[in-house]
Amino acid sequence: MIAIYPGSFDPITLGHLDIIQRGSRLFDKVIVAVLRNPNKVPLFTVQQRLEQIRIATQHLPNVEADSFDGLTVNYAQQRQAQVLLRGLRAISDFEVELQMAHTNKTLSTQIETVFLATSNEYSFLSSSVIKEIARFGGSVDHLVPPHIALDIHKCYNHNYPIANPTTTAIIPPLQSIPMESPTGTTPEAEV
Ligand code: PNS
Repeated sequence: MIAIYPGSFDPITLGHLDIIQRGSRLFDKVIVAVLRNPNKVPLFTVQQRLEQIRIATQHLPNVEADSFDGLTVNYAQQRQAQVLLRGLRAISDFEVELQMAHTNKTLSTQIETVFLATSNEYSFLSSSVIKEIARFGGSVDHLVPPHIALDIHKCYNHNYPIANPTTTAIIPPLQSIPMESPTGTTPEAEV
């Protein structure tokens, strides 16, 4: 059975990786699908996010990273997936996730949403929290894989020494990304 794990992943966190790792034991294949969303101002491009995910999941042979636009159920059908995988952290997630699952069910009765409860240690974690910490110069080493911590701190132009880098970042160094986009909008909060 093939599962799609859709999301923004800007950037992918240890909480997302927990869901992916556990999902990879339940399904034959897990496709981590990055939404190309023109309505959000991301920190990382879709290409950078895909590279980050590929490095972070390289030890999981049945996990693939891809991007998509439009409806998730259409993408799932296109990839012959039967399941949408989502993580649930808290009650606050539940309302939104249930609405999304019901909506998707009306769009395709063939596709089931499967929720995994996020492991306790990551129940507070989101991409937005990570960006917030990094923006103010805090360390995110304990919240994301090392290559992503490096990318994040480069984004915010921190002089950031990595003690024991475990991966060589294949992502080219990022230019400093301003906190506000040229249009004056700030990156939108997301999971
Ligand atoms: O990581 P996120 O931002 O919580 O992911 C949200 C995502 C990408 C899963 C959701 O916004 C989505 O599926 N968008 C695609 C459009 C769609 O299918 N909408 C119908 C379901 S509400």
